[in-house]
Amino acid sequence: MAAESLTDLTAEYQLDLLATGVILLDANLHIQALNLSAETLMEVSASRAVGSPLKELLDESNEWYPLLYQALSDNYPMVRRAIPLTTRMGQERTVDITLSPIAGTVGNRCLLVELNMVDRLQAISRDESEWQAQASLKEIMKGVAHEVKNPLGGIRGAAQLLAGELANPNLHEYTDIIISEVDRLRTLVDRMLGPRERLESELTNIHEVTEHVRQLIEAESKGKLCIGRDYDPSLPDFLADGGQLTQAVLNLVRNAWQACGSDGVITLRTRVHRQFTVGGNHHKLVCALQVSDDGPGVAKDMLPRLFLPMVTGNAQGTGLGLSIAQRIANQHGGLIQVQSVPGETCFTLLLPMETQDASD
Ligand SMILES: Nc1ncnc2c1ncn2[C@@H]1O[C@H](COP(=O)(O)OP(=O)(O)OP(=O)(O)O)[C@@H](O)[C@H]1O
Ligand SMILES: [Mg+2]
Repeated sequence: MAAESLTDLTAEYQLDLLATGVILLDANLHIQALNLSAETLMEVSASRAVGSPLKELLDESNEWYPLLYQALSDNYPMVRRAIPLTTRMGQERTVDITLSPIAGTVGNRCLLVELNMVDRLQAISRDESEWQAQASLKEIMKGVAHEVKNPLGGIRGAAQLLAGELANPNLHEYTDIIISEVDRLRTLVDRMLGPRERLESELTNIHEVTEHVRQLIEAESKGKLCIGRDYDPSLPDFLADGGQLTQAVLNLVRNAWQACGSDGVITLRTRVHRQFTVGGNHHKLVCALQVSDDGPGVAKDMLPRLFLPMVTGNAQGTGLGLSIAQRIANQHGGLIQVQSVPGETCFTLLLPMETQDASD
């Protein structure tokens, strides 16, 4: 393909649909054109990048520079796996690169560079297995919860009848215990059944959700806890069930509070990821909502099972908060991920941003 036709294609945003980063370099390694994925990977806008020498945007110490010169001088395509790259902002990435020399506008040779982020591919395959595990577990949980729930009404009714028949009022203490334990069990089973199946989606402002949760928890802590904010104000509204998202974020923030106490530092952060894959599906825009805290971190042996129901490290906990939050994220086509070391725990809620109803 000639260089000028590639530039045209990029200008018409055709290449912006690719998850692969594409950069067109001239013989002096100045950027002629690049697509959206390459902008994201290099953390630079097209207006800043086009015309600039590549070394201004990617650290010259990157070990792939000799390869670029070699591909140009040999006029021969080249593929290299797992090449480390450092961006101008100091971000480390690992990419597979394909270099294809092509004919330029005035007879000069140009270089077409394709970049595939390897670390992201690894994250995608991990997401997919988590997704599958959640789906099968959900079915088992629902089955058990229904079986437990059905007889509870009968037990409660019988205890009330029995209380009415008991001549000795001292014995009411026992029927009261039966009734209150049945009620506790019913609340637990309702949580096990999880959020309602049908989402009531409407255009939702994610910052209204996070602010609502922040105010609720700060009020609950009687002003002792102060939650930090780091929002991306450019985040557009997207289709979501605001009530359910509030529940999911509330569960994450409540856990953070329990982990780090009222003196801890909790931060709510929002960002946009472009051309991002969640649960095996590729999305143009994904909202990343992070809840981070400076508590002691999640116990290492608990990390692989963290989102399973009934997994708790808390004597009073039911171990359902995270599995419910994960299920709400899944219903939105999203996912919750966790990274935790002592002093820094971060739960990231990834939500595909659909801005238009499919029925519109
Ligand atoms: N931010 C965090 N820092 C450290 N550990 C955490 C954090 N979030 C969750 N955990 C661990 O994960 C466990 C499971 O959390 P989950 O919310 O599912 O259940 P829970 O908080 O124990 O009970 P509940 O159902 O009342 O929410 C917690 O008990 C805690 O040990
Ligand atoms: Mg919890």
